[in-house]
Amino acid sequence: MARITASVYTSHVPAIGAAMDLGKTKEDYWKPLFAGYDFSKQWMKDNKPDVVILVFNDHATAFSLDMIPTFAIGTAAEYQPADEGWGPRPVPKVVGHPELASHIAQSVIQQDFDLTIVNKMDVDHGLTVPLSLMCGEQDPKSGAWPCPVIPFAVNVVQYPVPSGQRCFNLGRAIRRAVESFDEDLNVHIWGTGGMSHQLQGARAGLINSDWDNKFLDRLIAEPTELAKVPHIEYVREAGSEGIELVMWLIARGAMADVNGEGPAPRLAHRFFHVPASNTAVGHLILEEQN
Ligand code: DHB
Ligand code: FE
Repeated sequence: MARITASVYTSHVPAIGAAMDLGKTKEDYWKPLFAGYDFSKQWMKDNKPDVVILVFNDHATAFSLDMIPTFAIGTAAEYQPADEGWGPRPVPKVVGHPELASHIAQSVIQQDFDLTIVNKMDVDHGLTVPLSLMCGEQDPKSGAWPCPVIPFAVNVVQYPVPSGQRCFNLGRAIRRAVESFDEDLNVHIWGTGGMSHQLQGARAGLINSDWDNKFLDRLIAEPTELAKVPHIEYVREAGSEGIELVMWLIARGAMADVNGEGPAPRLAHRFFHVPASNTAVGHLILEEQN
């Protein structure tokens, strides 16, 4: 049986990828940010998963305003880093896991969630920056990410966006799907994007560290209550792009305790840093205890 053994949460920002790709991680501005991920890179080596389900959002890169799936699962064998305007990031291609991804699609759709099936997709900073933060620099040609990745895209760019509650319930459905896969696989699920930031309009530059830290507290300790927060609170308190945080509830909903199947997860790591570009960066690692 496949098992979810840990969930990881991290912000993404294109400038983080650029800082890594351009050798700027030791500069004063970036040093404290990357220091927060030193633990995580070692943790990834010590707790290497067989597969990561990486919940992220595409930023009108693979999808456009022509076509906007609310939830989309990547079932392809591989994914290329996307060109977001400056050429693709110099990072390895992302190897998928078509067998587990197809099984999750089958199971989750039969549990009444409408997933779009994606057989071809380039992946933007929403997916590659969390991979870089957690796995460190990789040679684009000779290197490889440590394990296969199932990209799971959520629309948080164009309204209407899914509610936190729906994301949370989807996480529960993904857990059931993983546990009904026959092969013994150690699976991690990542929730990415956020924390508070607004890139546009009169409130551009908004950061709300108090709200972000309460979100981290509640994600750890009372996720079922946190799932009830309406989308408008994310936008009001965490800015128009702060809504990316609903994706973290998918990963949290996939942990054992919210299904009443196990004890609360162990907090292995918590980090918060402001700013990275326009964004408050938050990061958690939660391990299953059984
Ligand atoms: C920034 C943050 C994002 O989440 C994003 O998708 C693009 C830019 C930023 O802080 O610059
Ligand atoms: Fe973003």
